[in-house]
Amino acid sequence: MNESMMPPKNIVLIGFMGSGKSTVGRELHQRLGYPWVDTDHLIEQRERKSIAAIFAESGEEAFRDLETRVLEELNEPQVPRRIISTGGGVIGRAQNRALLRGLGYVVWLHAPTSVIVERTSKNRDRPLLHAEDPVARIEALLAVRKPLYAETAHLKVDTAGLDCGELATGILESARYFFSCQL
Ligand code: S3P
Repeated sequence: MNESMMPPKNIVLIGFMGSGKSTVGRELHQRLGYPWVDTDHLIEQRERKSIAAIFAESGEEAFRDLETRVLEELNEPQVPRRIISTGGGVIGRAQNRALLRGLGYVVWLHAPTSVIVERTSKNRDRPLLHAEDPVARIEALLAVRKPLYAETAHLKVDTAGLDCGELATGILESARYFFSCQL
């Protein structure tokens, strides 16, 4: 089969805000040498605005439309191998869930709620957590999203107690197995 007809071999990281997608994405990029992209950064570059500004000026649905467009554009036969980190809410749309699986091997980084609360409290960049009770907000979002992460991912990784090197080693091992099964 010619390369442009083969299914893409991206590794796609999904998971809640603060679950470690960027840290693990960078580590996988360093180990494999694949280009690393982050859907939030691609959106910010394209719009020349921060995510917070997009939410404030255009609302969440407009942001979700941009997210869908970026996923569509990442499915490029000429660049079939990337590490792709995503925003925590990308799994909300059925269309996005299908696009994510079409991009390659989808890994759900799952972190305990206490870890998410601790990590996300360190900065104010996330508009969805600008709530009176951020912990209740996180719990409510997690309740809706967990089944969607589970439905989308090929692999769920419990990140508790593991550093990003250990996580990357495990993900690479199972990605190799997944891709060789697909050939
Ligand atoms: C969001 C997560 C954020 C960003 C936006 C919305 C979400 O990305 O896409 O603030 O809905 O969970 P991170 O998961 O990288 O923080």
